[in-house]
Amino acid sequence: MILVIDFGGQYNQLIARRVRECGVYCEIVPYTCTLEQIKAKNPKGIIFTGGPNSVYGDDTPKIDPGVFELGVPVLGICYGHQLMTQTLGGRVESADVREYGKTAVKLNKNNILFKDIEEHNISWMSHTDYVAEVPEGFVVTADTSECPVAGMANDLRKLYGVQFHPEVEHTPFGRKMISNFLFEVCGVKGDWTMSSFAQRKIAEIKEVVGDKKVLCALSGGVDSSVAAVLVHKAVGKQLTCVFVDHGLLRKNEGDQVETVFKEQFDMNLIRVNAAERFLGRLAGVSDPETKRKIIGEEFIRVFEEESNKLGKVDFLVQGTIYPDVVESGTSTSATIKSHHNVGGLPEDMQLALIEPLRELFKDEVRAVGEELGIPSALVWRQPFPGPGLAIRVLGEVTQEKLVITREADAIFREEIAKAGLERKIWQYFACLPNIRSVGVMGDGRTYSHTVALRAVTSSDGMTSDWAHIPFSVLDIISRRIVNEVQGVNRIVYDITSKPPATIEWE
Ligand code: XMP
Repeated sequence: MILVIDFGGQYNQLIARRVRECGVYCEIVPYTCTLEQIKAKNPKGIIFTGGPNSVYGDDTPKIDPGVFELGVPVLGICYGHQLMTQTLGGRVESADVREYGKTAVKLNKNNILFKDIEEHNISWMSHTDYVAEVPEGFVVTADTSECPVAGMANDLRKLYGVQFHPEVEHTPFGRKMISNFLFEVCGVKGDWTMSSFAQRKIAEIKEVVGDKKVLCALSGGVDSSVAAVLVHKAVGKQLTCVFVDHGLLRKNEGDQVETVFKEQFDMNLIRVNAAERFLGRLAGVSDPETKRKIIGEEFIRVFEEESNKLGKVDFLVQGTIYPDVVESGTSTSATIKSHHNVGGLPEDMQLALIEPLRELFKDEVRAVGEELGIPSALVWRQPFPGPGLAIRVLGEVTQEKLVITREADAIFREEIAKAGLERKIWQYFACLPNIRSVGVMGDGRTYSHTVALRAVTSSDGMTSDWAHIPFSVLDIISRRIVNEVQGVNRIVYDITSKPPATIEWE
């Protein structure tokens, strides 16, 4: 296992993904992790990420120097490179200008980290501080016109630092460099596959559950579906799937979920129609975070009630995935939004959680789904947030607004499918910004809702760009929505990337 120590940089998850793409399991832990905790994980290699701080600032993230004495190879990236330098007695200085973007770099090909990589190359830089003097025992392995120590190595102790970001696409040799670190320096095997993951998880779940009963929170989304099938493979009919229809689903979604899991997978499935209950609790609430918390809490309450009806149940399965965990502030990056299946859990919850996908990125979850034989329509379904349409209807959620959003969304999806764009777009949906504006229809003035269309391309939902849907397709969608959905007289298309926006509007 490779341990990625997170110093708060924006590309940290990308580092973990690059490692996993090499078939090597890795975990991200915050820099506050103690030396004992690091040792307990028994890593075969450690990677320090970048971060926004300067090693000389007050209260800047530090690392226990003991980490360099473990005999475990360490690769420091950007801030990690500077921190390694400072901790081991080298010198970091602040430059007048920031070096940012694609930068020509000269690499020492003889160093094992750059084995089989072109000497003159391009790397992605983003830094102001730089390493001016390497610590004792280190040699310089890369430089740029602005940065005298773009890379350093102490081969004897297997300690390496690079100023650039090997994890981003703009460093073309980055993947190869990371694989050199993993295979040449750390000596790990690349045998972590989705099939080995699934087998390991199934065995683990069997072991943990024994002959006890398990409840699964099934939403019909990719994550909870894969989690459910994984647990079903482990414990069969000991698992009961509870599908809470909170009234915030897309058009016809509730019925589809019921059909697929009952008929295709032969699972114990209970559908709870709780729309009124959720809408009742959401009445008068317009703050996005409060809405999420209410939905999260209500969700768990419904499960608890179902579990009471079923007799003693000990475990609850949830389809939490890695970006949910990281974005909810469990790591060092700041809380962005509380995802309902992590941050919204009531403190007095009575069931123990099983979250088999907690370590996986979305594309990895899909790969596990395919491995388990889940139909591809389900595996490739676009992500849908736990709080559902409640975070796409801005402000207070009402039945009327939900109907408009649902109908507009259905037309949008239908037309995207007709245009053959389904797999090309990560997520596409309608939302209701809670704006009414003046329009004219026939001979009459209207004062109706605006529907906003959001469609983004992304590989993991962490960053995204707006999808360049052809105007001709947008045109059809716009006409259809205003003509077919009552109460709408204006359509707008959201052309913001993430960051600075998020994918969902709330
Ligand atoms: P944002 O809006 O944060 O969304 O850019 C990133 C991805 O996460 C999904 N999302 C959620 N998923 N519970 C979920 O299960 C939530 O509360 C939640 N909020 C956002 C969003 O649809 C996108 O795929």
